[in-house]
Amino acid sequence: MRAWQVAELGHAWDVLRLAEVRVPEPVVGEVLVRVLAAGLNFPDLLMCAGQYQVRPDLPFTPGLEVCGEVVAGGPVGTRVIGAPLPAGGLAEYAVLPHGASFEVPGALPPADGAALFVTYQTAYFGLHRRAALRPGEVLLVHAGASGTGSAAIQLGRAAGARVIATAGGPDKAQVCRDLGADLAIDYTDGDFVPAVLEATSGRGADVIWDPVGGEVFDRSRKCIAFEGRIIAVGFASGRIPDIPAGHALVKNYSVLGLHWGLYRRHRPELVAETHAELLKLYADGVVRPLVGQTRPLAEAPQAYRDLAERRVSGKIVLIPWTLAA
Ligand SMILES: NC(=O)c1ccc[n+]([C@@H]2O[C@H](COP(=O)([O-])OP(=O)(O)OC[C@H]3O[C@@H](n4cnc5c(N)ncnc54)[C@H](OP(=O)(O)O)[C@@H]3O)[C@@H](O)[C@H]2O)c1
Repeated sequence: MRAWQVAELGHAWDVLRLAEVRVPEPVVGEVLVRVLAAGLNFPDLLMCAGQYQVRPDLPFTPGLEVCGEVVAGGPVGTRVIGAPLPAGGLAEYAVLPHGASFEVPGALPPADGAALFVTYQTAYFGLHRRAALRPGEVLLVHAGASGTGSAAIQLGRAAGARVIATAGGPDKAQVCRDLGADLAIDYTDGDFVPAVLEATSGRGADVIWDPVGGEVFDRSRKCIAFEGRIIAVGFASGRIPDIPAGHALVKNYSVLGLHWGLYRRHRPELVAETHAELLKLYADGVVRPLVGQTRPLAEAPQAYRDLAERRVSGKIVLIPWTLAA
């Protein structure tokens, strides 16, 4: 089968090589799927560069999530979504480990299926399990037009929160409004802190979704409400911020770490429950993954470059060769 492989670490678009490899063989408990769609994620970029928590042996195939059709090891023909481990989605076939494949309706478009996994699970765990977001609270979503941000806006609205989003540029700000944000702030046009304070009568946001880190995290501490919760989701800016304990004390707020992947290891039953809840929200039309681009798998290197250079809103989903024609 054809698969993209990384044999040396670096920028994904520089190091990805197309290879002819053996179809992986599932062991007991694993399922083999024919990949129908593969979702790209920011962590793939980190993994290709050797900067992610998970460092697969070289060479490896990147790609954290797929929607596929079971061809061996499980109910053949069933459509599932899930995470190949530790990587492996950018290929014609992928193996999903035990407990890491989740059935979806056969009619679910594969691109939506692939995009309904990592970012939605992450956003759901962050908002509900970690931050215990309540109806009527103000949720500030940074990078609202990103993969995780777009999911957080939709899930925040679904939870009954008032959602404020930030984004880089007027087009992305409009994307946030279209996703359901009550207010979208184009941070290229001015600081988000006074805008958030003005919109909340000086209180600030109860929950802040921060996948950016760096200066964005530092500034977020200026507009967090009393008893607020800042969720440290990621550091797309490239800088991991320090958390000043004294400031958290005097303003009475919390900083919550979020590593969704650990729930798969420690609390897999919660991941399955969240999958069921996400499918219900999808069926009710409450959430719709923002698939900004659907492209052939052949374009993986350029697609990763577009992701890294912030040229996409929502998710990029790749469709394998045999299906893309
Ligand atoms: N905690 C977890 O379990 C978990 C799970 C998944 C992802 N993550 C992390 O969450 C972060 C976002 O992931 P994602 O999939 O949502 O990413 P994404 O779709 O690629 O979006 C990242 C966004 O961050 C903003 N950004 C600000 N500074 C940036 C910079 N220097 N380079 C690139 N983007 C920058 C951009 O939005 P603007 O153009 O609007 O500024 C960009 O669109 C990543 O750090 C990822 O590793 C964490």
